[in-house]
Amino acid sequence: MCGIVGYVGKEACADILVDALRKLEYRGYDSAGIAVFEGEKIKTVKAKGKINDGLVARLSEQPKLYATCGIGHTRWATHGEPSDVNSHPIGNGRVSIVHNGIIENYRELKAFLTSKGYGFESETDTETVAKLLDYYYQGDPVEAIAKALDDIEGAYALGIIFREHKNKIFAVRKDSPLIVGKGETESFIASDVTAILEHTREYYFMERNEIAVLDESGISFVDVHGDPIEKELQIATWDVAAAQKGGYEHFMLKEIFEQPDAVRNTVSPRVKDGMPDLSECGLTEEKIRGYKNIYIVGCGSAMHSGMVGKYLIEDLARIPVIVDIASEFRYRNPLVSEGDLVVIISQSGETADTLEALKLSKKKGAETLAVVNVVGSSIAREADMVIYTNAGPEISVCSTKAYAVQVAFMYMFAFAVAYARGAIDAEKCRQLTDSLLGVPEKIRLCLDNVSGYQYVASKIFNADSLLYIGRGLDNALSMEGSLKLKEISYIHSEAYAAGELKHGTISLIEEGTPVIVAATQTALWEKTLSNVREVKSRGAKVIMICRESAVLDENCADYKVGLPEAEDMFLPLISVVAMQLIAYYTAVQRGCDVDKPRNLAKSVTVE
Ligand code: AGP
Ligand code: GLU
Repeated sequence: MCGIVGYVGKEACADILVDALRKLEYRGYDSAGIAVFEGEKIKTVKAKGKINDGLVARLSEQPKLYATCGIGHTRWATHGEPSDVNSHPIGNGRVSIVHNGIIENYRELKAFLTSKGYGFESETDTETVAKLLDYYYQGDPVEAIAKALDDIEGAYALGIIFREHKNKIFAVRKDSPLIVGKGETESFIASDVTAILEHTREYYFMERNEIAVLDESGISFVDVHGDPIEKELQIATWDVAAAQKGGYEHFMLKEIFEQPDAVRNTVSPRVKDGMPDLSECGLTEEKIRGYKNIYIVGCGSAMHSGMVGKYLIEDLARIPVIVDIASEFRYRNPLVSEGDLVVIISQSGETADTLEALKLSKKKGAETLAVVNVVGSSIAREADMVIYTNAGPEISVCSTKAYAVQVAFMYMFAFAVAYARGAIDAEKCRQLTDSLLGVPEKIRLCLDNVSGYQYVASKIFNADSLLYIGRGLDNALSMEGSLKLKEISYIHSEAYAAGELKHGTISLIEEGTPVIVAATQTALWEKTLSNVREVKSRGAKVIMICRESAVLDENCADYKVGLPEAEDMFLPLISVVAMQLIAYYTAVQRGCDVDKPRNLAKSVTVE
C-alpha cells in the first residue's frame, strides 16, 4: 500500500534511496527506513514518523554510509501500529525485505516458523516473509524466493536483499505494483515510476511470478524455476505529478478504481472456511449474542456506511441498530449503556467528534469497536476492539475507497452478528459471504461504464440543485451519492427517502430538476417507480440507477445507469461507484479542484 525503492549502481545510495522515498511521500505513510550493504553486513536504519523527522534524523546520528546498493520503504501500517520496530526494512541479518501489501496467512506462517525455532520482534505480517525466506535460503536466493512464494497468500510487492549476495536486489510482486528502473549504469526498483523519474524514464512493469534480479551488471528476470524471462522495456512519458496519480487525472479517480482491490483486501483476509472471521479484534460469538443494542456512530461518509450497516444488521440479525452522527450523538445524552455495542467508524481515526463519541460510549459502560483505516490512530487506540479496513492511503479529501471498505465491513459484521445470534444458519452465512467475495468483480464491471457516468454529468453539471431518492438500502446509498456531489462539485443536492417526497419536498420539483433515483431493491421497485412517475410528471429530469436488465416504461427515465446483476443486498456497495463517478465527472466538467475541495480537510480533527 505504500512505498518501495531500491538501488544498485556505482553511486553512494543512501541519499538516492531517501530522495526516492520522498517522491513517494504523497502516498501517505507512517514510518520509513533503508537497508544497505555495509562491508559484509546489512545495515538497517529506520524510524517511525516522517522521513525528515525519523529516518533522516537517524541517518545523521551515524557515520555516513557509502553503500552502493540498498532498499528503502515508506510504510502504511496494516498489521502492527506505527513504531520503529514495525518499520521496514525487516530482516534478521541474513535477509532483509521491504513489503507493500497484506500477507493474509501470516498467522499460519508465524506458527510454522515459531515451530521451527524462529522468534519475532515486530507485530507485522511482513516479518513472516523475511523469516520464511531465511528458512528456505540454502545459498540460492531465487530458490528461496520461489519456495516462500508458494507458501504466501495475499498481496505483496517485495524488495529483498541477502547478506551473502552483496550488491544484488531481488524483487517480486503479486497484486501490489512494482516496477524495475533501467539506468545507464544503475538499476532501481520502485512502487511507481515517480520515485525514479529523475534518474531514468526506462522501466519494466513487473508481473506476478516473475523474479527481478538487479546487480552491478544490470537487470535480469527469471521465473520461479530460475528460467530467464524476456520483458519489454517501457518508457515513462508522463511527468511526476501524473505519475503520482498512477496516470489518473486525480487521486479521487485513482482511488475509485482501486476499490475492487481495497474491498478484496478488507474482506478476503477475514474469511475462514467460508465464514466471516472477526476474531482478530476479540469480537466473539458469545459477546455478539450478549449485546442488547448496537449503535453505529461516525461523521459524513463514515456515518453513511453505518446507515447501510443498520439496514443489513436489522434485516438479517433482528437486533436494534441506532445510527447517529457523532456530533449529535455526543450531545444528546444517548441511551447507550452497559451491554450495548457502539461501532465507531472513521477512515482517519482522528475525527474529533467521533473520538469524543467513542469516549462517551465507554464512559456510559458500552463496549466499543472501532472500524478505522489508519493503524494506530487515536480512535483505534481508544476503542476496546479495533478492525482495520485495508483501503490503503486515501489521498483525495473525498472518501471513496474508504467508504467502500467501511460498507464491505458492514456486510461482514452483519453476517457475523446474524449467525452468532442464530438468525441465519451456517449455510446462509457462507452463501452471503461467498456473494460478498464476488463484489470486487462486480465493482470492476461498474467501473467500465465511464461513458455513461460522463453522459449523466454532462446533463447535470449546470444544475443549481438535485435530489437523490431511494428506498431502504437505496436511501442509504443516496445519502452518500448526494454528499459526493455536493462535496466536490459544489452543486446543492439532497438525499431524500423516495416515499417521503409527497410530504413536502416534492414542491421543489420543476421543469428540468434533476432527480437521481437509486432503484436496486427488487421488493421496492414498483414503489420507487411510482415515486419516479410523481417527479417525472412534474417535469423532473430522471436518472435511474438500476440493473441493466431492468425494463423501464416509456418516458419513465431520461437516462438509465445500468448495473451488473447481483443480489439486491449487495447492489448498494456495487452501485456506489456510479454515484462516485457521476459526482467526479460533474466536478471535472465544472472545473472544480476535485482532490482538494474548498473549505474541506481530509481529517476533521476540530469540533
Ligand atoms: C466524505 O467524502 C468526507 N471525506 C467526510 O465526510 C468524511 O467521511 C468525514 O469527515 C469522516 O472522516 P473520518 O472517516 O476520517 O472520520
Ligand atoms: N502489511 C505490511 C505492514 O503492515 C506492509 C504495509 C505497507 O504496505 O506499507 O507492515
